[in-house]
Amino acid sequence: MKRVAVLISGRGSNLSALIAAQDDSYRIVLVISNVEDVAGLDKAQAAGIATHVIPHNGKSREAFDGEMDVALLTAQPDIVVLAGFMRILSDGFVRGWEGKLINIHPSLLPAYKGTRVHERVIAAGEALSGASVHFVVPELDAGPVIARATVPVRPDDTPQMLADRVLEVELKLYPEALKLLAADKVALKNGLTIFKE
Ligand code: GRF
Repeated sequence: MKRVAVLISGRGSNLSALIAAQDDSYRIVLVISNVEDVAGLDKAQAAGIATHVIPHNGKSREAFDGEMDVALLTAQPDIVVLAGFMRILSDGFVRGWEGKLINIHPSLLPAYKGTRVHERVIAAGEALSGASVHFVVPELDAGPVIARATVPVRPDDTPQMLADRVLEVELKLYPEALKLLAADKVALKNGLTIFKE
């Protein structure tokens, strides 16, 4: 059973899905938020999971990441999951957790990295969008993909409608991808995602 830490910044709907999907492949042992009083912290506490708030304000990226490393080293996770965590991580932190650090992004990566994804997808007239789970590397949203799910983009979509449709598939995709990693069925090797079965 793999020990998992989840980093959040907000409402925690992906966190809830990951909590609900826990099985004998992984257990969430710690939730860290860089923002106080967010709904995700309540969801963790309601599930009996230890929480830790590490505010980022007024700290350098390295100092903030160093505090996270201390909290993580105490909890000894095998895997660190970013779930709506809205901070860019320092290269040193990312390298320290290489192969054990994953993120979900609401686009079909490598397309539409960064922010304001749904606005840009709609403006470009895309017929499909979706979500991607990927290993985290120092370059933002550029890590090797583990799994993707697609949704249609409808002609009358607003960014919020598309975001809601993508979130629905995120909530299924993220636990599935985490279970692949927790079961050692997928790994990061030489900058590529390797599937072992
Ligand atoms: C999700 O859309 C995720 O793809 C993005 O941030 C959002 C997080 O939502 N990285 P939540 O906090 O899990 O509800």
